[in-house]
Amino acid sequence: METIRIALIGYGNVGKAFADMLLRKEGFLREAFDVKAEITAICTRRLGGCMDAEGINTAALTEDKFDKSLDALTIIDAGEYDVMIELTPINIMTGMPATEHIRRALRLGKHVITANKGPIAWHYRELKNLAEEQGVSFCYEATVMDGVPVYNLTKQNLMGCRITEVEGILNATTNFILTEMEKGVSFEDAVEEGRRQGFVEADASMDIDGWDASAKLTALMNVLMDVEITPVDIRRTGIGGVTPEDIEEAKAHGKRIKLICRGFLEDGKPVGIVEPTLVEEGSLATTMMGTASYVTIVTDLMGGVTVIEEPFEPEIDHTAYGVLSDLLRVLTDNVAH
Ligand SMILES: NC(=O)c1ccc[n+]([C@@H]2O[C@H](COP(=O)([O-])OP(=O)(O)OC[C@H]3O[C@@H](n4cnc5c(N)ncnc54)[C@H](OP(=O)(O)O)[C@@H]3O)[C@@H](O)[C@H]2O)c1
Repeated sequence: METIRIALIGYGNVGKAFADMLLRKEGFLREAFDVKAEITAICTRRLGGCMDAEGINTAALTEDKFDKSLDALTIIDAGEYDVMIELTPINIMTGMPATEHIRRALRLGKHVITANKGPIAWHYRELKNLAEEQGVSFCYEATVMDGVPVYNLTKQNLMGCRITEVEGILNATTNFILTEMEKGVSFEDAVEEGRRQGFVEADASMDIDGWDASAKLTALMNVLMDVEITPVDIRRTGIGGVTPEDIEEAKAHGKRIKLICRGFLEDGKPVGIVEPTLVEEGSLATTMMGTASYVTIVTDLMGGVTVIEEPFEPEIDHTAYGVLSDLLRVLTDNVAH
């Protein structure tokens, strides 16, 4: 049986959920690929790094196993692993330091998986070309709509189709806030409820101001439409200016307000728009309640193809599955079975 060794750069919510899912799917990996997956390196900003070429028992991992002197780049350079999984927090304005972590691992000939949309929104083409030059896999399914197959869908099942447009609700937090406001809850209380349920950050401005949605739209357009834009190229309006009166007025006209993302080409140039939009009651967008999201991919040969992410508990498993599905892709592409 072959062993595939994994380095986890970042071990927070997603890293831990992924490590747990890997243990749950050990039998599946053995049966489907005749492979044992071992996590051989882990690092966090605060704790430093932990390395064991024989495999780290993540179920019994304690803080004293970490060495503070080992940072991400040291682990990437010195660790014994085949796949680096980048799970550090996003910097929407630069894509760093995640991009540097990914560059470094790709240059060393390692496969890379990431759930961090920063590098895809800022440096996708460079990283994709580097992976191709090095003959390794570079996967990022969880960067948009978690484990819902968006990139994998287009790569595997819509092969040969040209993607001309993408449209959807890509940010769960703002959709939740707008849904709560429709029930008469104030903006502030809706944000507080989202925090209580655990999916709204202490600083919710990246969601509310439309930056997170812009980064996701950028990532989708860069990958699916082969353009080269960054989040600052998106025409962006957040939901901070949406009032209860706006919501009531929309309702009175049989409409709802949703934060819609749209990416298309105009005279051959990429245009990305994120803005609160009046949508007709009964349309697909109005059926997305709470933390649900969707994307419609418009193609030349198939017209629109839509995928929906429905709320699920525990929500973090959606993201962990996105990472696991990328690992299965790496195995499919690189391990004989
Ligand atoms: N959570 C979700 O539902 C979700 C969904 C889709 C995509 N994502 C993306 O997945 C990534 C991880 O999310 P998360 O929720 O797991 O974040 P998180 O809970 O904040 O964990 C981030 C981890 O990265 C570590 N870290 C930060 N800076 C680092 C550095 N320079 N070098 C090494 N480690 C570093 C942190 O260490 P310390 O704790 O020691 O600071 C922590 O272990 C993010 O890019 C996020 O945007 C998350």
